Amino acid sequence: MAGTDIFQLLEKDHREVEQLFQRILSSRGEQTTGMGSPMALMNQLAHMLKAHMAAEERTLYASLMDNSKTREIVNESRKEHEEARGLINEVAASQSNVLISRVEVLQQAIQHHVQEEEGRLFREARQVIDQQMASQIGSRFEQEKSREMGMGGTART
Ligand SMILES: [Fe+2]
Repeated sequence: MAGTDIFQLLEKDHREVEQLFQRILSSRGEQTTGMGSPMALMNQLAHMLKAHMAAEERTLYASLMDNSKTREIVNESRKEHEEARGLINEVAASQSNVLISRVEVLQQAIQHHVQEEEGRLFREARQVIDQQMASQIGSRFEQEKSREMGMGGTART
């Protein structure tokens, strides 16, 4: 989307992720296999989360690493991404009887990360990134993310 900055794009993804978590958690008790099953929805979410995190690290986080004012918060955020990847892999390897409880653990970790990001990280980032840069980082984020989305996993049309 032209004229959309990195902050708006990340917020849009965050809302999408929250909705997908809701769908997965409200599908508990429904059929356990096939499309629309908790596991199928979770695979979709895992693929999207991984693409989002990789693209974010290569664009916004990389820019913020260059600045001593934002380096610390970015290092914390990267650690949270690592933890999230670990939890995503655990969820993906889950039997259906423990799937929902692990999804809930992942949801809480992501929720915490999103709050930190939209709060402190965005606030600090806006002090070192001007609007023009925020738009440029936004376009690069979109390119990186669609490239990641096209690689492996459950590509959707
Ligand atoms: Fe993030």
